[in-house]
Amino acid sequence: RYRELAVMSDGYVWFEGIPFPVVDCTPEHLRAMQDFVFKDEDVLTVSFPKSGTNWLVEILCLIYSKGDPTWVQSVPIWERSPWVENTHGYQILKDKEGPRLITSHVPIHLFPKSIFKSKTKVIYLIRNPRDILVSGYFFWIISKFVKRPESLEQYFEWFTQGYETLGNWAQYVNAWMLEGQENVLIVSYEELKQDTRSVVQKICRFLGKKLEPEELNSLLKHSSFQVMKENKMSNYTLLRGWLIEDKNGSLMRKGISGDWKNHLTVAQAEVFDRIFCEKMAGLPPELFPWE
Ligand code: A3P
Repeated sequence: RYRELAVMSDGYVWFEGIPFPVVDCTPEHLRAMQDFVFKDEDVLTVSFPKSGTNWLVEILCLIYSKGDPTWVQSVPIWERSPWVENTHGYQILKDKEGPRLITSHVPIHLFPKSIFKSKTKVIYLIRNPRDILVSGYFFWIISKFVKRPESLEQYFEWFTQGYETLGNWAQYVNAWMLEGQENVLIVSYEELKQDTRSVVQKICRFLGKKLEPEELNSLLKHSSFQVMKENKMSNYTLLRGWLIEDKNGSLMRKGISGDWKNHLTVAQAEVFDRIFCEKMAGLPPELFPWE
């Protein structure tokens, strides 16, 4: 069914004008998902694709296991913190008792409304959109479902015009910016890269969790780029041949900030600046700790 949908729609399920990747997602499910009930003890990770979502999820899993890597080494990441927009993930979440880790890329206006009535803790991850663009380009060209760009130039056009997977980055980010709400924490990929330890401690405070120094050290080790890259439960190599076409392909590409400088031309960076400075003008600049 997914393959059939992918062929029909360039790899996307179009739902309310937003292109969702067909992977484990159907229009019927996106409609049914609206009735999902969030609980106060849930923790939700939300981000635009390629913001470092899986890194944050790995950190959350390790916070919940108190730095013990057994869970992250034995259960695929998409089952530890399932995606509410995926049929398989939804089923796991519905049947799960107690606190749940939940992941999503769904834009806020299509999100299950129960989130606004619950005290679910929401961690919203942002990243320099130029790096999102570069990361997205290299991921979609090895992916099996989504329409593949023929070149970075072409992908640049799609991205800057808002025809990106999950729609327009600027609209998406603007709408999810719920800074100031008691149960929302905004974290950036850049600050995580710069000082992972402090950001993990901030996340722990937000969640009301405490890690002993050795637990924190273990968390930092097991969520590091090198260790995650080798962990088949986190690097998506289990989905080679299904999600990822390339036989060497992995979600873990470079794991750095600022790689856009190696790929975008000066002219492209200027176009980017113009478009995004205009679109993001209403938001506090300190939320965007990148040049
Ligand atoms: P790059 O393609 O720039 O390397 P997502 O999980 O939202 O799909 O984001 C994927 C991006 O997060 C990739 O970026 C990937 O390398 C990066 N990433 C994943 N785990 C990471 C880690 N432990 N440390 C740093 N970056 C990580």
